[in-house]
Formats: sequence, C-alpha cells, structure tokens
Amino acid sequence: MIQKALRIAVSGALLAVATPLLANDANNDAKIQDYINTLTELGFPAPAEGEMVHIPPTMADLDASDLHPELKKVIRKGYDLFTNTQQLRGEYVFNNMNCSSCHLGEGRMPFSAPIWPAAVTLPGFRGKNGHVNNLEERIAGCFTYSMNGKSPAYGSDTMLAMSAYHQWLASGVEMYPKKKIYGRGFPAPARPAELSYARGEQLYKDNCAVCHAEDGSGLRVNGETVFPAPWGDMSNNWGAGIVRLKTGAGFIKNNMPLGQPNSLTDQEAWDIAYYMDSQERPQDPRYTGNVAETLEKFGPTFHKHSLYGQARESDGKILGDHANTGEKPFLKPDTVRPRTFD
Ligand code: HEC
Ligand code: HEC
Repeated sequence: MIQKALRIAVSGALLAVATPLLANDANNDAKIQDYINTLTELGFPAPAEGEMVHIPPTMADLDASDLHPELKKVIRKGYDLFTNTQQLRGEYVFNNMNCSSCHLGEGRMPFSAPIWPAAVTLPGFRGKNGHVNNLEERIAGCFTYSMNGKSPAYGSDTMLAMSAYHQWLASGVEMYPKKKIYGRGFPAPARPAELSYARGEQLYKDNCAVCHAEDGSGLRVNGETVFPAPWGDMSNNWGAGIVRLKTGAGFIKNNMPLGQPNSLTDQEAWDIAYYMDSQERPQDPRYTGNVAETLEKFGPTFHKHSLYGQARESDGKILGDHANTGEKPFLKPDTVRPRTFD
C-alpha cells in the first residue's frame, strides 16, 4: 500500500515540476505558448483575453543568473525553507506541512496558488484581517493558519530568505500589475446545487486514502512528511484559507489526486471538499473561547465559506467546538493583531 502510494507520488511530483521546468528567464512568446500548451494538456483553461502570463524562474535559472552570490545564497535559503518547512518544526511550525504541501511545484505552479503574485500586489488591503498587509505579513498568515504555527519575526534572517524567494520568483513582473494574473490562487469550479457528505466520504476512500490515509493523518516516515494530513491535529487549523469550501474544492480539482489534475468532476471535487471540511482540526487562532461567538465575528470575512461552527451532516457534531490547538502549545500568535494608521 505504502509502496504503491509512493510510486504514484513520485510520478505525480515529476509531473508537478515538469511544467515549471520549461521556464526560462526569457519570457518570450514561444516559451509562453509552450507553457500554456502544457497547462491546457493538463486540463487547465488557457489564459482569458488580457490576462498576464508569467513563467517564474527555476533554481537552475538562479544558478545561471548574475545576481550577487550572497543574494543567491539568501534566495536558495528561502527556497529550502519553503520546500522543507519542517526544519522550523517546534519553533514556527506545529503540524506536518511544508509550504510546498499546498503550493505545488515549489510555489511556481499555476492554479496551485503560485506565491509570486503576492510580491507584486502587496502592500495591499486584505479583507481577512481588515488592514494593509505587506509580503512579510502575508507569509506570516500562512504560518499562523496553514502551518498551525507562528511567524518568524519580521525582518529576521528566516523571513528575509522567504520573502526573497517570493520576490525573485516574480522577477520581471511590474509592481501592481493592471492585468489579471493567469492561474492565481486555487480557482474553483462553480458550486454544484447539492453537496453530499456520503459521496465525499466514498470518493475520499477511493481516490485519496491511499496516500492521505482513511483517517486523514497522511504519512510521515523518519520525521519527514511524505503525505501531509488533510485534517486532524497535524493539519492546518480552522483559520486556514483551504478550509473555505470553494478554496478546498479548487485545490482538489486543480491538484489532486497528485499528478492527475482536473481528473475529478466539479461535483466530485466539491463533495470531497465538503467531506474534508466536516472533519476536525486545530482551533482557529482567532477563537474567542466560544465557537458561536467566533463564527459571528469572523463569519462575514471568512467562515461563511467554511463549515466552522456548523452541525456536521453525518452526526450533528458542532465543528470547531473545542479548545484543541494540536501540537502547538499556545492559541494566538502575536502576529494576529489589529493595525491602524489613524
Ligand atoms: C494548507 C495549505 C497551505 C499551506 C501549507 C501554505 N499555504 Fe500559502 N496559501 C494557501 C491558500 C489557501 C492561499 C490563498 C489562495 C487564494 O487566495 O485563493 C495561500 C496564499 C498564499 C500566498 C498569497 C498568494 C497570492 O496569490 O497572493 C502566499 C505568498 C503564501 N500563501 C505563502 C505561503 C508560505 C510562505 C507558506 C509556508 C510558510 C504557505 N503559504 C503554506 C494555502 C497554504
Ligand atoms: C499519490 C499520492 C496522493 C494522492 C492519491 C492524493 N494526494 Fe493529496 N497530496 C499528496 C502530496 C504528496 C501532497 C503534498 C504536495 C507535495 O508535497 O508536493 C498532497 C497535498 C494535498 C493537500 C494539501 C495539504 C493537506 O494535507 O491538506 C490536500 C488537501 C490533499 N492533498 C487532498 C487530496 C485529496 C482530496 C485527494 C483525493 C482526491 C488526494 N489528495 C490524493 C499526495 C496525494
């Protein structure tokens, strides 16, 4: 079972990197056309009229570039932290995730929330926390929620390396681009009229459990994450973007099963997202001590898209009604704070 899963995973991982490997620092028309062809063959839509296509550079491009050797070292460190974030386990990360567990292709893959758009659209206003965020605060957000952790200090060596990697991937893109960015985020198919827990459960068992395990715990071997945990204590917490049903459905449709993007129907992707979101995970760091109150406070900007605070269809359990923070020995990191310029 594990061997089969590993074999599929390896071919999947190869596929995930194959596209970005076409990258070249010259984003010329022929390169871009090749890039789009590869993506449309994988079932992704071609760019809409007026959308911007950017092929982020690879580590091979970095080696070949004439950037200062010290800068190359910092960008490489950022890459290393992004793809092996478990090295920050117990300090800033308290689950089994790497940043690249969700941002496939080392953060370069279109339709898998490529990370470089943040470098050219921030500082910007984020509805999630109601103030203007810079790139560091955006990265801090994924540490806080997706990694069930806390952010390295703003301006620290770790934060500098990570933001350098994001910014370098955006090489050549103008700041605050006017055009819409092709393949940004985890675009979701339209929500079907009805979602089914029972269908989602069966689909998960048939298509996902081989790698992520029936109980959603994934697979760790010798302290390394082979398959991350889609729910449970070792997963992202309730405040993470992927718990929004449409983001979950978009992630699944575009990326899973690994190596087979766009193989599930829209209904299937949504049913699985609904099933996954009906399982428990560590508490939202914005928790006030009461799930109904937390839902009321953060429903409008966030949880109206998740199942947090709602009764689970299968047994009526109120989701998120607990004080469990997983392996993390605290609830609220200090980066979850208001900011005003009045
Ligand atoms: C559990 C899944 C998950 C993990 C792990 C994760 N992220 Fe994210 N990330 C998301 C989601 C979901 C979004 C929002 C995408 C959207 O808006 O549709 C996002 C968005 C981002 C963005 C903004 C992209 C944009 O288009 O502006 C950046 C930057 C980012 N993440 C960096 C990181 C970093 C750095 C880490 C590791 C410390 C990380 N992420 C770990 C799920 C994850
Ligand atoms: C062949 C093994 C494999 C299969 C099958 C598979 N996944 Fe994954 N999945 C992975 C790997 C590996 C990652 C992390 C990506 C990376 O590290 O490159 C991942 C990441 C994820 C994530 C984001 C991280 C997390 O754990 O929350 C979710 C959600 C997810 N998969 C859901 C699914 C669903 C739903 C299915 C079934 C439709 C599925 N996967 C099928 C291997 C697999």
